[in-house]
Amino acid sequence: MRISQFASRYGPWAIVAGASEGIGAAFARALAARGLNLVLVARRAQPLVALAGELEARHAVSVQPLSVDLGEPESITELLRVTEDREIGLLVWNAALSVMGPFLDQALDAHLTELEVNIRSPLRTIHALGGRMVARRRGGIILLSSLSGMQGTALVANYAATKAWTRVLAEGLWWELGKNGVDVLACVAGATDTPGYRGSAPAPGTDGNVPVQSPDAVAAEALGALGKRPSIVTGMKNRLAAAFLARLLPRKAAVKLMGRTMDRMYGD
Ligand SMILES: NC(=O)c1ccc[n+]([C@@H]2O[C@H](COP(=O)([O-])OP(=O)(O)OC[C@H]3O[C@@H](n4cnc5c(N)ncnc54)[C@H](OP(=O)(O)O)[C@@H]3O)[C@@H](O)[C@H]2O)c1
Repeated sequence: MRISQFASRYGPWAIVAGASEGIGAAFARALAARGLNLVLVARRAQPLVALAGELEARHAVSVQPLSVDLGEPESITELLRVTEDREIGLLVWNAALSVMGPFLDQALDAHLTELEVNIRSPLRTIHALGGRMVARRRGGIILLSSLSGMQGTALVANYAATKAWTRVLAEGLWWELGKNGVDVLACVAGATDTPGYRGSAPAPGTDGNVPVQSPDAVAAEALGALGKRPSIVTGMKNRLAAAFLARLLPRKAAVKLMGRTMDRMYGD
């Protein structure tokens, strides 16, 4: 799709939730380059303000930083209030909390916050903005999922479950909202070189040479797939791994393989 076509289909404003770094910042840069004005959401104001300045100077778009904690339900009230008067043509829900480690070792509150950031907050936002998009019969929604959510994954069991929810929700809405002119996509990423990934990266030599994509590559593949399919696994090697796990291996073997790999990378 040409840049001007992209802006008229998914503009004039986009929200990127989780935009201060990593894949979210890559989406923000790619969308500004396509001429979209942006509302950039994350907790830390400073990187949002810096990114907003960079994008406004480079692309002649308007960018509004919004510093809120998406683990708090009121943050969505604030997001909807701030964006009430703007025509939001695209929502990218990229923010996520990933609680790593044995399920029972983590506080219940941490798991519940994971549900708030990864499920309840996007659900609230999609429900509100999706209605506005359907009324205009135009728009797009991209939800970030993960290879870990293609099957149960030990040591990130709750996170992986939220990412399965994300993918299944996007695929269902792809059909349902697609009839009303709204494109929905699950972007299923594998390991991606972001601060979040580097912070949790396993010791060298324990990861079985996991292929690592750049954030820009993930954003570019997702934007290229929007409107064409319900979900995309980004990266050729990730697509091969996903096909092997989901189609060739029996479910039990796939879950065991993921569990053994996680034990080796992150276990005691
Ligand atoms: N990186 C990978 O290897 C990988 C693999 C598969 C899927 N993914 C998915 O891709 C997405 C982005 O991953 P990433 O690695 O780029 O993450 P990241 O580097 O950890 O960045 C996460 C972004 O979300 C924001 N965020 C996190 N919690 C928030 C909260 N409570 N309220 C508001 N903003 C919050 C962070 O900003 P603040 O800290 O400033 O709030 C940051 O901008 C996630 O949905 C993740 O599940 C990533």
